[in-house]
Amino acid sequence: MNRSYDVLIIGAGLAGVYTALAIDPKYTVCLIAKESVSHSNSMLAQGGIAAELSDDPIRLDSHFHDTLKAGSNLNNPEAVHFLVKNAQDAIASLVSLGIQFDKDEHQRYLLTQEGGHSYRRILHSGGDASGYHATKGLTQQINLHPNIELLEETIALDLLLDASKRVIGASVLIRDADYEPIMAKVTILATGGIGSVYGATTNDLSATGDGIGMAFRAGANIEDMEFVQFHPTALYDESQTERRRFLISEALRGEGAYLINIEKQRFMSKYHPRLEMAPRDIVSQAIYREMYDTWTDHVYLDTRHLDPSYLETRFPTIFNHLQSKHIHMGKDLIPVAPCEHFICGGVAVDLNGETSVKNLYAVGETAHTGVHGANRLASNSLLECVVFGQAAANRINQTLEHIPIPHPVVLAELPNYHYNYKPLRKKIGDYMDEYAGIVRTKEGLSLTRTMLEGLRDSLYKAPNLTRYYYEALNLVETAWLITDHALTREDSVGCHFRIN
Ligand code: SIN
Repeated sequence: MNRSYDVLIIGAGLAGVYTALAIDPKYTVCLIAKESVSHSNSMLAQGGIAAELSDDPIRLDSHFHDTLKAGSNLNNPEAVHFLVKNAQDAIASLVSLGIQFDKDEHQRYLLTQEGGHSYRRILHSGGDASGYHATKGLTQQINLHPNIELLEETIALDLLLDASKRVIGASVLIRDADYEPIMAKVTILATGGIGSVYGATTNDLSATGDGIGMAFRAGANIEDMEFVQFHPTALYDESQTERRRFLISEALRGEGAYLINIEKQRFMSKYHPRLEMAPRDIVSQAIYREMYDTWTDHVYLDTRHLDPSYLETRFPTIFNHLQSKHIHMGKDLIPVAPCEHFICGGVAVDLNGETSVKNLYAVGETAHTGVHGANRLASNSLLECVVFGQAAANRINQTLEHIPIPHPVVLAELPNYHYNYKPLRKKIGDYMDEYAGIVRTKEGLSLTRTMLEGLRDSLYKAPNLTRYYYEALNLVETAWLITDHALTREDSVGCHFRIN
């Protein structure tokens, strides 16, 4: 089948879907989802979307400065300014697309606070189901846009390049059966996060760094991969064998929950004047230290001083999940431990979402816009998806007619084996947790990088036309980039903590 479109978008989380909707309807768009559209990381986002809705210049400035401070000033100030300046338009656009944010009885937005924010400026939806409502709402809009064709259960394998190294689409595998090229004038990577690189993550396990792997193989610049953000409070459950961890939103601390160690003592005052509302890197590192000092593997979130019925209304997803585990919010301590949550680095893009490779864009967590610096400010990621998704779409709408239609290509044949690569995935997760986690050493990182180079060479020698093979390749390449960048940065800053 000859598939040819104006725009190919790889990934159907919030960034991919929003960008698809912002492309001028006169252009054809192919939007591909590795699983179904209801299966993305964006769906799992609990906290909300940060946006300063007041026109008070002090408040606007403070979102800018809070973002820089959380990122240890390694952010690109121009990108942060762009993000903050466009936040109100981003919210207005989401509302115009039917997304509803929680309001009080006077129809004013209910705003919450999370770590690193000086003010309450986080809008939420369905209490603690912001990502679910925003992504689901936008996904429903796709049916109203006949120019967008959605291909589910389709994995992009590799970007296709012409002789001048311009991206002309991607090779894909549809429902593990049809191996085809999709030709496009421009291609947008929106594949989300990298959680499966680690043994424990808050991400959906389909987050295997696909966009970063593909972009790397196509020669794109990849930046700041050492800055992997660990969420301080994933639910700790000793009996759990699954690698995905249930997130306990930082907004819970914003509403008054605090952290105590295994000795039932509060500890954040030792680490930061903002206590539980310190930026996420500081809180995760503090918890790591407490667990180390008390020879244990978790701490607790304490909500016993808060009203259970308020908690049930404000955090229904968390409340119900915990109840299913026989933990009652407002009555019981909640065991928590940090785990992988977000990659602050990624495929380097400019303010229009353009990568260093011609006709290739990246949006959302896959992209490195420079907004997050060394540690992302809470709830800035959904905002980044919308602001930079819109910017990329604007740029594409302005330039698409000057880009020639690529000629169809014939894909090289590939062998097909039933290997599942599970041992390889486990090995990567074990090494990354141990040596590229919250605390890192030169020896551990070097050992891991060398191990990954061995795996990568073996994979390159034995290509295999399956989703599992390409996911394994993307995991190895993403993990390699993290360790390589972490070795290069010898000092400690933000989420990157080196003890030697
Ligand atoms: C959370 O709700 O704690 C996560 C939100 C985010 O990652 O910004």
